[in-house]
Amino acid sequence: MNRRTFLRLYLVVGAAIAIAPLVKPIADYVGYFYNEIGTLSKQYLVANNTNGISGFPKYKVANIKDFQQQVKTSNCPVYFFAYPLTNEPCFLVDLEALLGKPVPQIQNPYYGQFAGPLGQIKTINGVGPNNSIYAFSDVCVHLGCQLPAQVLVTSSNDPGLDIDNSILHCPCHGSMYLLEKGGIVVGGPAPRPLPIVFLEYDENSGDIYAVGTNAPYFSAAIPRTKPSDNLLYDPRYSYSTPSNPACSKGG
Ligand code: FES
Repeated sequence: MNRRTFLRLYLVVGAAIAIAPLVKPIADYVGYFYNEIGTLSKQYLVANNTNGISGFPKYKVANIKDFQQQVKTSNCPVYFFAYPLTNEPCFLVDLEALLGKPVPQIQNPYYGQFAGPLGQIKTINGVGPNNSIYAFSDVCVHLGCQLPAQVLVTSSNDPGLDIDNSILHCPCHGSMYLLEKGGIVVGGPAPRPLPIVFLEYDENSGDIYAVGTNAPYFSAAIPRTKPSDNLLYDPRYSYSTPSNPACSKGG
C-alpha cells in the first residue's frame, strides 16, 4: 500500500468513526418524519393505537388494585410509567393518599393555551374510586432534569415530593411544582407548569389508561409548541423509569 492510498484509507476510517454516533439520532428523526410514530426505533412509543385524545397513544398504566395494594403495603403513593414514549417517565400519584384529605378537581393550568380539543379542557378529574389519582410528567420543564417524585420529604426546601403539601422540588435548580393545583410553579425558574397526563379509568376492570397530555414535556432541541409535538423523540435526552414501588425517604 502506497502512502497516498494509506492516507485515503486513514481519512475514510476517521470520518466513519466521527459520524458513527450521529447515525442513530439521524435515523430516529428520519423515522419520525417519514414514518410518523415509526418503527425504526423502539423508543418511539409505548402503545401504537390512536384511541387517545388527538392521536396520542392509549396506554394501560396499571390496574387500580395493584396500585392501591402498593400504596397500602409499601406506603408509596407514586407509581412510575413511561408515556407517550418509552424514554419519557411519568408517575401516577394518589393525591388523597399522599395528603390524607380529599382533593378538589384540578383546573387545567394550560387551558386555552393550545389550539384544538386539548387546549379546551378546563378541568381535570382524578380517576379511581375517590377521583384522586392523577399523573404528571417526571421531567422538569426548566432544563429537563428528572424529578425525584419517589423521594418523600416533609419540607418543600428539600428535593423530592413534600408529602404535606404535594410540592415536587427539582434538585437541579430548585423549581417547585404544586401537584394538587395541577403542577403550577410555586418556586424556582421553571417557565411553566408541570405537564399532566390525562387518564381514563375503566370501572369494570379497574384499569387505568394514559390517553394524552395537557402540554409538551421538556425539550430544548425541538421547539414543542403544541401537545402533539410530545410524540417527538428527542435523542439527546434519555431518562430511566424507576421500578415500582419506588419510594424512599429523603430530607
Ligand atoms: S432542571 Fe429543574 S429546576 Fe432546572
